[in-house]
Amino acid sequence: MQKIINYLRENQSRFVEELSDYIRFPSVSAQAEHRGDLKACAEWLVQHCRKIGLQARLCPTAGNPIIIAKTPRQKSSKRPHYLVYGHYDVQPAEPFELWKSPPFEPRIAGRSLFARGACDNKGQNLAHLKAVEAYFKTGSELPCDLTFVIEGEEEVGSKNLATFLKQNRAELHCDAVVISDTGMPSPKHPALTYSLRGIAAFEVTLHGPSRDLHSGIFGGSVENPAMALCQLLAKLRDKNGRITVPGFYDDVAPLSAYEKKQLARLPGNDKAYRKFLGVPQLFGERGFTSTERRTARPTLEINGLTSGYQGEGSKTIIPAWARAKLTFRLVPNQSPAKIVKAVRQYLSRLCPPTVRLELTAGHGAEPYLVSPTSREAQAALRALKAAFGYEPVLLREGGSIPIVNDFKKQLRADTLLLGLALPDDNAHSPNEKFDLDCFAKGQLMSAHLWRELGGN
Ligand code: BES
Ligand code: MN
Repeated sequence: MQKIINYLRENQSRFVEELSDYIRFPSVSAQAEHRGDLKACAEWLVQHCRKIGLQARLCPTAGNPIIIAKTPRQKSSKRPHYLVYGHYDVQPAEPFELWKSPPFEPRIAGRSLFARGACDNKGQNLAHLKAVEAYFKTGSELPCDLTFVIEGEEEVGSKNLATFLKQNRAELHCDAVVISDTGMPSPKHPALTYSLRGIAAFEVTLHGPSRDLHSGIFGGSVENPAMALCQLLAKLRDKNGRITVPGFYDDVAPLSAYEKKQLARLPGNDKAYRKFLGVPQLFGERGFTSTERRTARPTLEINGLTSGYQGEGSKTIIPAWARAKLTFRLVPNQSPAKIVKAVRQYLSRLCPPTVRLELTAGHGAEPYLVSPTSREAQAALRALKAAFGYEPVLLREGGSIPIVNDFKKQLRADTLLLGLALPDDNAHSPNEKFDLDCFAKGQLMSAHLWRELGGN
């Protein structure tokens, strides 16, 4: 192990250069204009994997390509096989004006590397690749077979990867999946995440008059779709922060007393959290702590709200339509299909006859819950401890990684979630960063992990 540790230490500055090259591709999956950048990024990644010594190929899909990269297999190998999943697509960088430096030109300040995709997820998946590089380049035997699956559509729902898993079940058959695409509370609290929230996304449009109308000539005689939408949305949540959709909480698994106690032990307090978020006061479902609310309770968020004139100055109109983008975060044992049905019924009932409701359900994902006491989980906890030098914590996370449920369904494999992002890494926000110590320790954790999982 010492050889590997030395190799990682001696090569950090080159690794940071390589991460910067990886990040310079503006691989924004939500925006069609970046299709070519995603392809170029995928090709760079395949080349990089080959340079490390992996057998890598680019797999075209109906959307962005998937990269498969394998450690060379020994004949009649009885070694365990693990998949390492990551994504090379990133969230849109907008609003650009809030970035202190251009989002796709990596900037290092102190021990942070600022850029879109730095922590979510390029830095985290590159950390695993660097660990494998260290095994190969030091001539150390890797005690497991590994297959990297790095996709380009995670931030838009992983639609094509799900099909790909189905079509390549035999090749991808594995003992477990390893993903670093979540967080940890602090560098002194390395974490194994054992639950993720699911999601159900919607677009609600209320259609009013057949065109924008003069608000003086017609105002008062016709419904304003923007006002109707505000009133409709306001009915979806009560003053205690409870979602009012009938049946919404029916399947919610309550937190056990043991879990509540564990969550309460995590670092941080509400005052610091409030300041960090820049809000005058925290808000959430009554009867739960902030940590419980954002990890183990379901929510409704309005992600976007559009109607009428948004330009400079005033324009006196009644808009022809109003639209909201909504997401519900779901917890075990809620099902997105059931929630879609319940929301559709409730909104249809609430919608006034003065406007026409159009409701489209977008992407959805089941929540995820896995045992933190399995043999693999214990190995992961030892690897975290060895790399970070602190006792790891067990976490539930509020975000979603839709594909983990497909790994379970298609490959019958559980996922180890070993996140390297810090709470102030600004994932999905302006000035996203990745901590270079987390990058280095993540590589070390990955190197230890294969030893621990391989059984020696
Ligand atoms: N890396 C995140 C997921 C995440 C972040 C999980 C922090 C736990 C803690 C991932 O890239 C992501 O943002 N996923 C989306 C999925 C959605 C588009 C279906 C999310 O959670 O919003
Ligand atoms: Mn991510």
